[in-house]
Amino acid sequence: MDALECLKTRRSVRKFLPESISEMAIQEMIDAGRLAATARNVQPWEFIFVTNPDTRKKLADIMEYGKFIAEAPLCIVVLSKETKYFLEDGSAATENILLAAHALGYGACWVAGDKKDYAPDVCKLLGVPEGYRLISSIAVGKPATSSSPAPKRNLEEVIHREKF
Ligand SMILES: Cc1cc2nc3c(=O)[nH]c(=O)nc-3n(C[C@H](O)[C@H](O)[C@H](O)COP(=O)(O)O)c2cc1C
Repeated sequence: MDALECLKTRRSVRKFLPESISEMAIQEMIDAGRLAATARNVQPWEFIFVTNPDTRKKLADIMEYGKFIAEAPLCIVVLSKETKYFLEDGSAATENILLAAHALGYGACWVAGDKKDYAPDVCKLLGVPEGYRLISSIAVGKPATSSSPAPKRNLEEVIHREKF
């Protein structure tokens, strides 16, 4: 799959088969996060991957809209050191991981981090040191069903020539 096909066919997946993911594939996804664009090349990110079912259940219990993390074989938690562009950098890394997961034949879904009241609870559960912010928790696994694409705004609606 080429890059454009990958980003055009990616969609959020929230239902997974109970099939585990190889360590090599996990490393490939996190490597894609590591290579994301980052302001001033600061690379403030850290990645925790969680496969342990008890920990995934605890994460799912904490996250209101991330209950499916309990059923996903893998959760990749993206953190950023509190730098000026921590949110942009962490978000770029998150999107790279979503795309890498899709390219490798997995489905994934971004679960919200920094804006949520539960962010400190997730950090505490995972032993994250002070000075880091939760960007996202990404559920990953083989899709259990083919989900229909979320409606997207048309190109004509969002594109502006020279001025807004
Ligand atoms: C910042 C951000 C936070 C999100 N948080 C959640 C979440 O907590 N739970 C969830 O199920 N999906 C979450 N999503 C996924 C969006 O719901 C999804 O990307 C959107 O509906 C568009 O669908 P698509 O990813 O299939 O294109 C989040 C996405 C972003 C970018």
